[in-house]
Amino acid sequence: MELVHTVEGFRKALDGERCAGRTIGLVPTMGALHDGHLSLVRRAVQECDAVATTIFVNPLQFAPGEDLDRYPRDLERDRSLAEAAGSRYLFAPSEREIYPREPLARVTAAAIEDSLEATSRPGHLDGVATVVTKLFALAGPCRAYFGEKDYQQLAVVRGLVIDLSFPVEVVACPTVRAPDGLALSSRNAYLTDAERRAAPVLYRALSAGEACIESGERDPTTVSRVMRDFVGTEPSVRVDYAEARPGDQEWRLFVAAWVGTTRLIDNIAVPVGAGPLGAGPVRS
Ligand code: PAJ
Repeated sequence: MELVHTVEGFRKALDGERCAGRTIGLVPTMGALHDGHLSLVRRAVQECDAVATTIFVNPLQFAPGEDLDRYPRDLERDRSLAEAAGSRYLFAPSEREIYPREPLARVTAAAIEDSLEATSRPGHLDGVATVVTKLFALAGPCRAYFGEKDYQQLAVVRGLVIDLSFPVEVVACPTVRAPDGLALSSRNAYLTDAERRAAPVLYRALSAGEACIESGERDPTTVSRVMRDFVGTEPSVRVDYAEARPGDQEWRLFVAAWVGTTRLIDNIAVPVGAGPLGAGPVRS
Protein backbone atom coordinates (compact mmCIF):
# COMPACT_ATOMS: atom_id res chain seq x y z
CA MET A 1 0.00 0.00 0.00
CA GLU A 2 1.20 3.46 -0.86
CA LEU A 3 0.87 6.31 1.62
CA VAL A 4 0.15 9.61 -0.14
CA HIS A 5 0.19 12.98 1.63
CA THR A 6 -0.22 15.48 -1.20
CA VAL A 7 -3.17 16.43 -3.36
CA GLU A 8 -0.98 16.27 -6.43
CA GLY A 9 0.40 12.84 -5.56
CA PHE A 10 -3.10 11.51 -4.97
CA ARG A 11 -4.44 12.83 -8.26
CA LYS A 12 -1.46 11.46 -10.19
CA ALA A 13 -1.71 8.04 -8.58
CA LEU A 14 -5.38 7.63 -9.47
CA ASP A 15 -4.95 9.08 -12.96
CA GLY A 16 -2.19 6.52 -13.48
CA GLU A 17 -4.46 3.67 -12.40
CA ARG A 18 -7.17 4.76 -14.84
CA CYS A 19 -4.64 5.16 -17.67
CA ALA A 20 -3.64 1.56 -17.06
CA GLY A 21 -7.30 0.61 -17.48
CA ARG A 22 -8.03 0.00 -13.81
CA THR A 23 -11.21 1.06 -12.01
CA ILE A 24 -10.99 3.06 -8.79
CA GLY A 25 -12.79 2.54 -5.48
CA LEU A 26 -12.78 5.52 -3.11
CA VAL A 27 -13.40 5.14 0.63
CA PRO A 28 -13.47 8.53 2.41
CA THR A 29 -13.00 8.37 6.20
CA MET A 30 -11.79 10.43 9.14
CA GLY A 31 -9.60 7.58 10.37
CA ALA A 32 -9.62 5.69 13.68
CA LEU A 33 -10.61 2.84 11.40
CA HIS A 34 -12.94 0.13 12.68
CA ASP A 35 -14.78 -2.78 11.09
CA GLY A 36 -17.46 -0.46 9.70
CA HIS A 37 -14.86 1.46 7.69
CA LEU A 38 -13.09 -1.77 6.76
CA SER A 39 -16.33 -3.30 5.46
CA LEU A 40 -16.41 -0.41 2.96
CA VAL A 41 -12.79 -1.03 1.98
CA ARG A 42 -13.38 -4.77 1.55
CA ARG A 43 -16.47 -4.20 -0.56
CA ALA A 44 -14.55 -1.70 -2.71
CA VAL A 45 -11.72 -4.23 -3.11
CA GLN A 46 -14.23 -6.79 -4.39
CA GLU A 47 -15.75 -4.38 -6.90
CA CYS A 48 -12.81 -2.22 -8.08
CA ASP A 49 -9.26 -2.78 -9.33
CA ALA A 50 -7.54 -0.22 -7.10
CA VAL A 51 -8.93 1.10 -3.81
CA ALA A 52 -7.97 4.41 -2.24
CA THR A 53 -8.85 4.98 1.40
CA THR A 54 -8.70 8.58 2.56
CA ILE A 55 -8.16 9.82 6.10
CA PHE A 56 -8.83 13.45 6.88
CA VAL A 57 -10.40 14.84 10.03
CA ASN A 58 -12.26 17.63 8.30
CA PRO A 59 -12.43 20.75 10.51
CA LEU A 60 -15.19 22.23 8.35
CA GLN A 61 -17.72 19.65 9.54
CA PHE A 62 -17.12 20.24 13.26
CA ALA A 63 -18.82 23.14 15.04
CA PRO A 64 -16.91 25.12 17.68
CA GLY A 65 -17.06 23.15 20.94
CA GLU A 66 -17.44 19.80 19.20
CA ASP A 67 -14.82 17.05 19.37
CA LEU A 68 -12.41 18.14 16.58
CA ASP A 69 -9.48 18.43 19.00
CA ARG A 70 -10.00 15.13 20.74
CA TYR A 71 -11.07 13.14 17.66
CA PRO A 72 -8.99 9.90 17.77
CA ARG A 73 -5.99 9.92 15.40
CA ASP A 74 -3.62 6.98 14.88
CA LEU A 75 -2.15 6.89 11.38
CA GLU A 76 0.15 3.92 11.98
CA ARG A 77 -2.70 1.72 13.17
CA ASP A 78 -4.98 2.92 10.34
CA ARG A 79 -2.25 2.25 7.86
CA SER A 80 -1.86 -1.40 8.78
CA LEU A 81 -5.65 -1.94 8.94
CA ALA A 82 -6.27 -0.34 5.53
CA GLU A 83 -3.43 -2.34 4.02
CA ALA A 84 -4.67 -5.63 5.49
CA ALA A 85 -8.14 -4.90 4.06
CA GLY A 86 -6.62 -4.57 0.59
CA SER A 87 -6.43 -0.81 0.09
CA ARG A 88 -3.90 0.13 -2.62
CA TYR A 89 -3.51 3.77 -1.51
CA LEU A 90 -3.92 5.64 1.75
CA PHE A 91 -4.39 9.36 1.23
CA ALA A 92 -3.69 11.21 4.48
CA PRO A 93 -3.33 14.91 3.68
CA SER A 94 -2.57 17.70 6.13
CA GLU A 95 -5.17 20.39 6.77
CA ARG A 96 -3.08 22.84 4.74
CA GLU A 97 -3.02 20.47 1.82
CA ILE A 98 -6.82 20.32 1.67
CA TYR A 99 -7.52 23.91 2.69
CA PRO A 100 -4.52 25.97 1.57
CA ARG A 101 -6.46 29.14 2.28
CA GLU A 102 -9.71 30.32 3.79
CA PRO A 103 -12.11 28.94 1.16
CA LEU A 104 -13.82 31.37 -1.18
CA ALA A 105 -16.15 28.67 -2.48
CA ARG A 106 -18.03 26.22 -0.29
CA VAL A 107 -20.73 23.69 -1.01
CA THR A 108 -24.04 23.80 0.82
CA ALA A 109 -26.46 20.94 1.15
CA ALA A 110 -29.45 23.22 0.82
CA ALA A 111 -31.73 20.50 -0.46
CA ILE A 112 -31.52 18.69 2.85
CA GLU A 113 -34.56 19.78 4.79
CA ASP A 114 -33.97 21.26 8.17
CA SER A 115 -34.18 18.11 10.26
CA LEU A 116 -32.28 15.48 12.24
CA GLU A 117 -28.52 16.11 11.88
CA ALA A 118 -29.12 19.33 9.93
CA THR A 119 -30.97 20.76 12.94
CA SER A 120 -28.78 19.29 15.67
CA ARG A 121 -25.45 20.12 14.00
CA PRO A 122 -25.91 23.27 11.90
CA GLY A 123 -23.25 23.52 9.18
CA HIS A 124 -22.12 19.93 9.64
CA LEU A 125 -23.58 18.56 6.42
CA ASP A 126 -22.28 21.59 4.48
CA GLY A 127 -18.80 20.80 5.81
CA VAL A 128 -19.21 17.20 4.68
CA ALA A 129 -20.49 18.32 1.26
CA THR A 130 -17.49 20.63 0.78
CA VAL A 131 -14.83 18.07 1.65
CA VAL A 132 -16.50 15.26 -0.31
CA THR A 133 -16.70 17.58 -3.31
CA LYS A 134 -12.96 18.15 -3.01
CA LEU A 135 -12.26 14.45 -2.69
CA PHE A 136 -14.40 13.69 -5.74
CA ALA A 137 -12.67 16.44 -7.71
CA LEU A 138 -9.27 14.91 -6.82
CA ALA A 139 -10.20 11.28 -7.28
CA GLY A 140 -11.88 11.59 -10.70
CA PRO A 141 -14.15 8.88 -12.10
CA CYS A 142 -14.64 6.18 -9.48
CA ARG A 143 -17.04 4.27 -7.29
CA ALA A 144 -17.28 5.83 -3.84
CA TYR A 145 -18.33 3.83 -0.78
CA PHE A 146 -20.37 5.31 2.07
CA GLY A 147 -22.06 3.77 5.11
CA GLU A 148 -25.79 3.82 5.75
CA LYS A 149 -24.96 4.56 9.37
CA ASP A 150 -24.67 8.24 8.38
CA TYR A 151 -27.89 8.22 6.43
CA GLN A 152 -28.34 11.93 5.79
CA GLN A 153 -24.69 12.20 4.81
CA LEU A 154 -25.34 9.49 2.23
CA ALA A 155 -28.31 11.49 0.91
CA VAL A 156 -26.14 14.60 0.67
CA VAL A 157 -23.42 12.71 -1.21
CA ARG A 158 -25.94 11.26 -3.65
CA GLY A 159 -27.29 14.78 -4.14
CA LEU A 160 -23.81 16.16 -4.85
CA VAL A 161 -23.25 13.62 -7.60
CA ILE A 162 -26.52 14.52 -9.29
CA ASP A 163 -26.38 18.29 -8.79
CA LEU A 164 -22.68 18.82 -9.51
CA SER A 165 -22.32 16.07 -12.15
CA PHE A 166 -19.47 14.14 -10.57
CA PRO A 167 -18.43 11.03 -12.53
CA VAL A 168 -18.89 9.00 -9.38
CA GLU A 169 -21.08 6.02 -8.61
CA VAL A 170 -22.10 6.10 -4.96
CA VAL A 171 -22.31 2.71 -3.27
CA ALA A 172 -24.24 2.49 0.01
CA CYS A 173 -23.05 -0.11 2.53
CA PRO A 174 -24.97 -1.56 5.49
CA THR A 175 -24.21 -0.55 9.07
CA VAL A 176 -21.77 -2.83 10.88
CA ARG A 177 -22.68 -3.42 14.54
CA ALA A 178 -21.11 -4.89 17.65
CA PRO A 179 -22.75 -8.14 18.82
CA ASP A 180 -24.92 -6.16 21.27
CA GLY A 181 -26.26 -4.00 18.44
CA LEU A 182 -24.20 -0.85 18.97
CA ALA A 183 -23.28 0.63 15.58
CA LEU A 184 -19.49 0.80 15.25
CA SER A 185 -18.21 4.37 15.35
CA SER A 186 -14.86 6.02 15.92
CA ARG A 187 -16.59 7.96 18.70
CA ASN A 188 -17.29 4.75 20.65
CA ALA A 189 -13.65 5.09 21.76
CA TYR A 190 -14.74 7.99 24.01
CA LEU A 191 -17.11 5.80 26.04
CA THR A 192 -16.26 4.70 29.57
CA ASP A 193 -17.03 1.06 30.43
CA ALA A 194 -20.33 2.04 32.02
CA GLU A 195 -21.27 4.23 29.04
CA ARG A 196 -20.36 1.45 26.63
CA ARG A 197 -22.77 -0.83 28.48
CA ALA A 198 -25.53 1.78 28.19
CA ALA A 199 -24.90 2.71 24.53
CA PRO A 200 -26.75 -0.22 22.87
CA VAL A 201 -29.99 1.44 24.05
CA LEU A 202 -29.94 3.40 20.77
CA TYR A 203 -30.19 0.23 18.71
CA ARG A 204 -32.67 -1.32 21.11
CA ALA A 205 -34.86 1.78 20.79
CA LEU A 206 -34.77 1.43 17.00
CA SER A 207 -35.70 -2.24 17.39
CA ALA A 208 -38.61 -1.24 19.66
CA GLY A 209 -39.78 1.14 16.92
CA GLU A 210 -39.46 -1.65 14.39
CA ALA A 211 -41.51 -4.03 16.53
CA CYS A 212 -44.14 -1.35 16.87
CA ILE A 213 -44.40 -0.97 13.07
CA GLU A 214 -44.42 -4.72 12.58
CA SER A 215 -47.34 -5.01 14.97
CA GLY A 216 -49.29 -2.72 12.65
CA GLU A 217 -48.65 0.81 13.96
CA ARG A 218 -48.64 3.34 11.13
CA ASP A 219 -48.59 6.66 12.98
CA PRO A 220 -45.03 8.04 12.79
CA THR A 221 -45.56 10.19 15.90
CA THR A 222 -46.46 7.12 17.94
CA VAL A 223 -43.46 5.17 16.64
CA SER A 224 -41.18 8.14 17.37
CA ARG A 225 -42.55 8.38 20.92
CA VAL A 226 -41.98 4.66 21.52
CA MET A 227 -38.33 5.07 20.52
CA ARG A 228 -37.86 8.25 22.56
CA ASP A 229 -39.39 6.63 25.64
CA PHE A 230 -37.21 3.57 25.16
CA VAL A 231 -34.02 5.66 25.20
CA GLY A 232 -35.44 7.32 28.33
CA THR A 233 -35.31 3.98 30.17
CA GLU A 234 -31.52 4.37 30.31
CA PRO A 235 -30.88 7.14 32.86
CA SER A 236 -27.31 7.87 31.71
CA VAL A 237 -28.42 8.48 28.10
CA ARG A 238 -30.07 11.70 26.91
CA VAL A 239 -32.04 11.55 23.68
CA ASP A 240 -31.38 14.27 21.08
CA TYR A 241 -33.99 13.12 18.55
CA ALA A 242 -35.96 9.97 17.80
CA GLU A 243 -37.86 10.08 14.56
CA ALA A 244 -39.75 7.71 12.27
CA ARG A 245 -39.89 8.62 8.58
CA PRO A 246 -42.60 6.75 6.68
CA GLY A 247 -42.13 5.56 3.12
CA ASP A 248 -44.10 3.38 0.70
CA GLN A 249 -41.73 0.41 0.73
CA GLU A 250 -39.90 1.02 3.98
CA TRP A 251 -39.77 3.35 6.94
CA ARG A 252 -36.50 4.77 8.19
CA LEU A 253 -36.07 5.12 11.94
CA PHE A 254 -33.49 7.56 13.35
CA VAL A 255 -32.07 8.07 16.83
CA ALA A 256 -29.41 10.45 18.14
CA ALA A 257 -28.47 10.54 21.81
CA TRP A 258 -25.83 11.72 24.23
CA VAL A 259 -24.09 8.97 26.17
CA GLY A 260 -22.19 11.01 28.73
CA THR A 261 -20.36 13.63 26.65
CA THR A 262 -20.43 11.49 23.50
CA ARG A 263 -23.07 12.01 20.84
CA LEU A 264 -24.03 8.85 18.93
CA ILE A 265 -26.40 8.36 15.98
CA ASP A 266 -28.02 5.30 14.44
CA ASN A 267 -30.80 4.37 12.02
CA ILE A 268 -32.50 1.31 10.55
CA ALA A 269 -34.86 0.53 7.69
CA VAL A 270 -38.15 -1.25 8.37
CA PRO A 271 -39.86 -2.78 5.33
CA VAL A 272 -43.60 -2.11 5.23
CA GLY A 273 -44.38 -3.67 1.84
CA ALA A 274 -47.27 -6.12 1.82
CA GLY A 275 -45.80 -9.37 3.16
CA PRO A 276 -47.33 -12.79 2.46
CA LEU A 277 -49.84 -12.17 5.25
CA GLY A 278 -49.83 -8.41 4.94
CA ALA A 279 -52.63 -6.09 3.95
CA GLY A 280 -51.60 -5.93 0.32
CA PRO A 281 -54.00 -5.30 -2.54
CA VAL A 282 -56.70 -7.92 -2.75
CA ARG A 283 -56.28 -9.99 -5.87
CA SER A 284 -59.25 -11.63 -7.54
P1 PAJ B 1 -16.27 8.58 9.23
O1 PAJ B 1 -17.18 8.85 10.38
O2 PAJ B 1 -14.86 8.19 9.51
O3 PAJ B 1 -16.96 7.47 8.34
C1 PAJ B 1 -16.40 7.12 7.10
C2 PAJ B 1 -17.37 6.22 6.36
O4 PAJ B 1 -17.59 5.02 7.12
C3 PAJ B 1 -18.75 6.88 6.19
O5 PAJ B 1 -19.27 6.57 4.91
C4 PAJ B 1 -19.57 6.21 7.28
O6 PAJ B 1 -20.96 6.18 7.01
C5 PAJ B 1 -18.97 4.82 7.29
N1 PAJ B 1 -19.23 4.13 8.56
C6 PAJ B 1 -18.98 4.59 9.81
N2 PAJ B 1 -19.40 3.70 10.73
C7 PAJ B 1 -19.93 2.66 10.04
C8 PAJ B 1 -20.54 1.41 10.42
N3 PAJ B 1 -20.69 1.07 11.69
N4 PAJ B 1 -20.97 0.60 9.43
C9 PAJ B 1 -20.83 0.94 8.13
N5 PAJ B 1 -20.26 2.09 7.71
C10 PAJ B 1 -19.82 2.94 8.65
O7 PAJ B 1 -18.36 9.95 7.66
C11 PAJ B 1 -17.26 10.49 7.72
O8 PAJ B 1 -16.18 9.88 8.28
C12 PAJ B 1 -16.98 11.88 7.15
O9 PAJ B 1 -18.13 12.66 7.30
C13 PAJ B 1 -16.48 11.86 5.69
C14 PAJ B 1 -17.53 11.25 4.74
C15 PAJ B 1 -15.16 11.11 5.57
C16 PAJ B 1 -16.25 13.33 5.23
O10 PAJ B 1 -15.36 13.98 6.06
